[in-house]
Amino acid sequence: MRVERFPAPPLAAGQVRVRVHAASVNYPDVLLVANTYQISVPTPFVPGSEFAGIVEEVDDPAGRVAGQFAPGDRVSGTALVGAFAEEVVVAARAVTRLPSTVDLRAAAAFGVAHRTAYHALRSFARVGPGEDLVVLGAGGGVGLAAVQMGVLLGATVTAVASSDEKLKVAASYGARHLVNHRQVKLREALAGGADAVVDPVGGELSEPALRALRWGGRFVTVGYASGAIPRVPLNLVLLKGVRVLGFQLRDFATKAADEYRRNEEDLAGLLATGQVRPHIGAVFPIDEVAAALRLVADGQAIGKVVIDVHQ
Ligand SMILES: NC(=O)c1ccc[n+]([C@@H]2O[C@H](COP(=O)([O-])OP(=O)(O)OC[C@H]3O[C@@H](n4cnc5c(N)ncnc54)[C@H](OP(=O)(O)O)[C@@H]3O)[C@@H](O)[C@H]2O)c1
Repeated sequence: MRVERFPAPPLAAGQVRVRVHAASVNYPDVLLVANTYQISVPTPFVPGSEFAGIVEEVDDPAGRVAGQFAPGDRVSGTALVGAFAEEVVVAARAVTRLPSTVDLRAAAAFGVAHRTAYHALRSFARVGPGEDLVVLGAGGGVGLAAVQMGVLLGATVTAVASSDEKLKVAASYGARHLVNHRQVKLREALAGGADAVVDPVGGELSEPALRALRWGGRFVTVGYASGAIPRVPLNLVLLKGVRVLGFQLRDFATKAADEYRRNEEDLAGLLATGQVRPHIGAVFPIDEVAAALRLVADGQAIGKVVIDVHQ
């Protein structure tokens, strides 16, 4: 990766140009740069899948796209690529207007991790008050968001991570039980049982977490940041009477539109009222975007890593 100056892309029908103030790193950005993601993007490309900023230009002469956006609007948005730049051009449907109460760094850090965590917990794990929720990778972007959202939904959260530093942050967001999987055996640490598991890590952590589920428990697989896709003995699922569910944000948005919209309304309210704030563990200027990606690639990030484009 390198930082270069080049002309901003032209605008096509239905698109908006956003002056990016802040962007944040998600693990799939790392995979796209390494060309190990499920989708391959031809090089050269500008990485970055999440941003917040100000609308600069819209595609129709009246200055509005589908009656929605006008220059000067504060927005956040997501895209496959393009956000680690001073300007991003995306479809108008990919951006959301922001209330004045939400600062742009927080907005840039909320759009993927917190939405993934909330949709997965609410519509897939269906976590309710008083239930025991285990969150793997609890110090990372999706994991820490799942801790916050699980607490909000009334669950008793067990945070699992690789360092005490990450676990301390998870505890500060309400995780009741803390498990450092480098220091204790996960299977023993989770012997008390659980009603739901959210797993953005995969690898060797998945099976002991699945084994912890009680009858009727839900295991939601969200990603494989460990680099290893686990093979779980299917008889465990049968014997324990549990459900294993796969969650993918972009599919949920299109395939379960009504439920997706309902959850999105909740999310907008939680962000606007400050009930949930993303934890920003590190901020980098755009010149150091490669270092920001490196932090996430190495599993060292705590919460979200933000690129402040105007720093
Ligand atoms: N399904 C969806 O719609 C969706 C949406 C967003 C993200 N995701 C996926 O969810 C996963 C987490 O994304 P994220 O943005 O939260 O990433 P992140 O902030 O980097 O967190 C990933 C966590 O994975 C753990 N990990 C274990 N081995 C690792 C390794 N070799 N390299 C990096 N991390 C490692 C780390 O926790 P420990 O403390 O346990 O080491 C780290 O905190 C990714 O696989 C991503 O692709 C899925």
